[in-house]
Amino acid sequence: MKNPVNIDSVVINGEVCTGCALCVDVCPHRLLALKKEKAVFDNGQDQDCMECGHCAAICPLEAVSVEGVSAILDFQTFPEKLKVLKPEECDCSSLVQLMRSRRSCRKYTSQPVETALLEDLVKIGITAPSGTNSQSWDFVILPTRADVEALGNLTADFYRKLNSQAANPLYRLLAKFFANDALNRYYQNYYQSVAEALREWDEDGVDRLFHGATAAIVVTGRKDASCPAEDALLATQNILLAAHTMGLGSCLIGFAVEAVKRSTSARAALAMAGNEEIYSVIALGYPAVTFRQVAGRKEVQPRVLHLAGGTLVR
Ligand SMILES: Cc1cc2nc3c(=O)[nH]c(=O)nc-3n(C[C@H](O)[C@H](O)[C@H](O)COP(=O)(O)O)c2cc1C
Repeated sequence: MKNPVNIDSVVINGEVCTGCALCVDVCPHRLLALKKEKAVFDNGQDQDCMECGHCAAICPLEAVSVEGVSAILDFQTFPEKLKVLKPEECDCSSLVQLMRSRRSCRKYTSQPVETALLEDLVKIGITAPSGTNSQSWDFVILPTRADVEALGNLTADFYRKLNSQAANPLYRLLAKFFANDALNRYYQNYYQSVAEALREWDEDGVDRLFHGATAAIVVTGRKDASCPAEDALLATQNILLAAHTMGLGSCLIGFAVEAVKRSTSARAALAMAGNEEIYSVIALGYPAVTFRQVAGRKEVQPRVLHLAGGTLVR
């Protein structure tokens, strides 16, 4: 996990800099200034450099670099294109079509997923934005079906215990006064289906948790980051979309997230640090199903407000 860096991370080549000040204007923390018609970097009067790299990205002469940050991610399974696309070179229609073609996959073939693909997916994940550019996410790759099953067993252990508590009326009575009555709600909404899934897992080897996925990526983050959940979930969505382009099916497994959050043995198995929290578990594998229609959604009614005028437009 990356720690905040407080050194002089921006380096300006004074020989090349023409003092155009584009980098000065774009720096979110105003850590660059023009001195004697050259850009200079002064880290950390009030705020540290968050190493967003906007100064380097905007310089037309490549006079600016950010130490320890490389534009090259070195993908193993596809060529890396470093050219910035102009809006007119992008196709919104294709982007949305990709988004709607990704569906949760709940049936996989037994074909293993190449580790190189999983490693590339993690690198695609980290192209997401993050609060104050903290990038304080971490990723655990479970590369084989056996590894996925091991997490499945840890998850099953957790739900076995939870179900035995939820089945006890005394626990449910006590739960009314604690944790927002969560145990009663769990009992009403999930107890029965979880009991059935556990029985199928134990007796028939049917995997209703990971749906037979042959790999998984767990996305975690540092709890003390500014927006760890948002960062991890943005990285997660990148991974889901990219997986589709690689021919992989994917499915978020919220049941496993809840189990890992509360199970010390699952946290230990995933080698999670004390200040690390889990935010998503992504099941992956080659799909054994083909969807013929893009995703449909319920109608959405955004509130269009002219707050300045105080009128509701629609
Ligand atoms: C936070 C979250 C947790 C989810 N957990 C599960 C899960 O545990 N098991 C599962 O089969 N699907 C899970 N899903 C998948 C949703 O059921 C699925 O996204 C939704 O039905 C829409 O279908 P689509 O992804 O194919 O568009 C989860 C999705 C999200 C966003």
